[in-house]
Order: sequence, then C-alpha cells, then structure tokens
Amino acid sequence: MMDLSRQNEPLKEEFFFAFSKVLQHQKFIMGPEVLAFEDEIARYCQTPFALGVSSGTDALLMALMALGIGEGDEVLTTSFSFVATAGVIARVGATPLFVDIDPETFNISPAQIEKKISSKCKAIIVVHLFGQSAEMDSILDIARGHQLRVIEDAAQSIGAEYKGIRVGAIGDIGCFSFFPGKNLGALGDAGVVVTKERELYEKMKSIRVHGAKKKYYHDILGGNFRLDTLQASFLQVKLRHLDEYTLRRQENAKLYRQGLSQLQVDSKIQLPIVYEKASRHVYNQFTIKCLGGVKERDQFKDYLNAIGIGCEVYYPCPLHKQQCFEKFYGDDDQLCPCSELASEQVLSLPIYEGLKKEEQNYIIEKIKRFFYD
Ligand SMILES: Cc1ncc(COP(=O)(O)O)c(C=O)c1O
Repeated sequence: MMDLSRQNEPLKEEFFFAFSKVLQHQKFIMGPEVLAFEDEIARYCQTPFALGVSSGTDALLMALMALGIGEGDEVLTTSFSFVATAGVIARVGATPLFVDIDPETFNISPAQIEKKISSKCKAIIVVHLFGQSAEMDSILDIARGHQLRVIEDAAQSIGAEYKGIRVGAIGDIGCFSFFPGKNLGALGDAGVVVTKERELYEKMKSIRVHGAKKKYYHDILGGNFRLDTLQASFLQVKLRHLDEYTLRRQENAKLYRQGLSQLQVDSKIQLPIVYEKASRHVYNQFTIKCLGGVKERDQFKDYLNAIGIGCEVYYPCPLHKQQCFEKFYGDDDQLCPCSELASEQVLSLPIYEGLKKEEQNYIIEKIKRFFYD
C-alpha cells in the first residue's frame, strides 16, 4: 500500500542535519523549529495563524474546546470518515449527529445537513475525504444561516483546494494530521490547527499548554497538545517536497484512470469522481467503488493482497454504526444509506508518490485479470 522508506531514505541526510541542530540547542519542547514550521505551514495553507500540535485528533479536539463546545451541544458531521472525526465530539461531552454522504465524492452531503439541524447544534465538522474538498459553498451557507461554526477536518487533504482556496482556510478552524502515511507525514505523530481568527488562535495556543497564558496560571482547561521540536524540524524538510509529492500522486491517479477506464465502461468499478469546484485533488487515497457487491469487493481485496498488492477498505464500518457511538444511535432517521453502501463498495489502491510506473502497470494488469479472466 505504501513504502515509506522510498520517501524517507532520500531525505536521510537532511533529517540527520535537522536532528543534530535540535540536539545542539536542546530545546526539545517548543523549540525554534516549531515556530518556523508554523510560519511555513500557515503560508502553505493560506491562513494567517497556525499552531503545531501533537496529532490530527488533538487538532480536532482543541478546535472543539476553543469553540466552547461541550455537554448539551450537538455537532453535525459526516457518517463516513476515520473514527477520530466523531470521537472528539463525544469526548468533549457533545453529541455527534451523523449526516449521510454524497455517494459520488464520499464527502458530507449538504442536502442532508439541513435535515438534521436542531437548536442544540453548534458546529459542523466537515471532512475533506481522500484528498478532495467537500462542497464548501453550500456548507458555509447553511452554517451562516444557523450560526454554526465550521471545523474542517483536512487530515487527508493538505494542499487540496476548493475553487482555488486551500482547504483548512475556508471554515473557522482547519485541522491537519501529519501521521506518517499522510501526504505530509512526520516521523511520528504530529498535526496542525490553522485559523483566520486571532481570538481562536490565542485560545488554542493556551489550550495547547494546559490553558496557561502565563506559566503555572491556568485560566481555562487545556492539555498537552504540543508538537515536538524534532517533528517540526523533520516536517520542515518534508514540506519543501510536498508539491512534488502531490504532483506524483496526481500523475499516478491519471495512470489508473487510463488503465482502468474500460472496467468503468463495463460497470465493474467506478473510478473516483472529481467535481469541478474541487480544483485541486491531492489523492491521499485513490478509492474506487466495486460495483459487484460486498462479496466481490472482499474477494477482490483478498486476491490483490494474496499477490502482494496492498489495498485497503477505508472504511468498512460507517461512523453511525460504530459500537463506540452506540449511545448516539438514533431511529430510522439516523440511517445513512449512502455511507452504508460506500462501506460495502470502496477499495483504496496504492497511490503514494514513491510508487513506480512499472509497479502501477502491474497492479492495473492484475486488476483487469481479476475482472475479465
Ligand atoms: C479524516 C481523519 N481525521 C482525523 C485523523 C486523525 O489524525 P491523527 O492520526 O494524526 O490523530 C485522521 C488520521 O487518520 C483522518 O484520516
């Protein structure tokens, strides 16, 4: 699915140099590299403020804490994402309201959001899944109409754009993950929050260090959500290469589209649909739909795995069906049929920037063989 050494090996000398600099100054916590990286990533995300944090999950948690969301509040979010997106809502004591997805893009369906809004709703967490922006114009319209804050979970979408604007810079707070397998991956856990609002920035800055503006005086409750200096220094190295990595992911996507087009014509699979307003898809995943049903999808996955081709089902269980959210299960109106169907159809193929052309041609060849032989 992904061989991280293909990205990290060529950067080894740069990592060693970054490491030796940190070792020299010994400022392992909130060292100068954190501030420098925040400046660079703010520029990359086209936002005035960025804060390096411990992970994408903590970025989301801090965003909710900064917006004062807690007990008695409801937060709308997609029913089709990684568990962290909704887990943070429950962790602050609020109720996640799961919204169905657009079956074409796998992102939250604006048409379904409005149906779920109640007077208790305080915010929407939008996920830009697989590297493609959600339909932000409609989402922002709805949010404005109901005084809802918008948090963007851009964990999978650094550098993706909606009508030319970088994701994370569109709503109130943008949250990114630098988990090693992400498009921009640290050498461990890391993340960032970005915002246009100084007030939110100041609040999150304090939340990041146990709610303290002045050392040992804690105005509000926070946590230890700091980004390690070392990770910041490694991320500085990688950020310089991010656009080149993205381009390679986009080229890999193009090759899959060419190689697998006949399978789409023959209604075996559906290739990822890119819609016009999502002006830059960064392909954290290349997720196809297998149209022959869940049994065929699972056989297809087993077949690829058996011949050494990595592939993964993101995600086999929609959020509204996860046991950890059992207490939020609703009646019929909580059902999200499009995300349930997606969980039975999706399969993500290797798309990472280090994938070689001959490997990709081999994958395409083997996929055709599965469906036609
Ligand atoms: C959509 C989404 N949200 C949140 C996260 C959580 O990020 P992290 O693993 O850095 O905590 C991830 C990471 O997998 C993700 O894909």
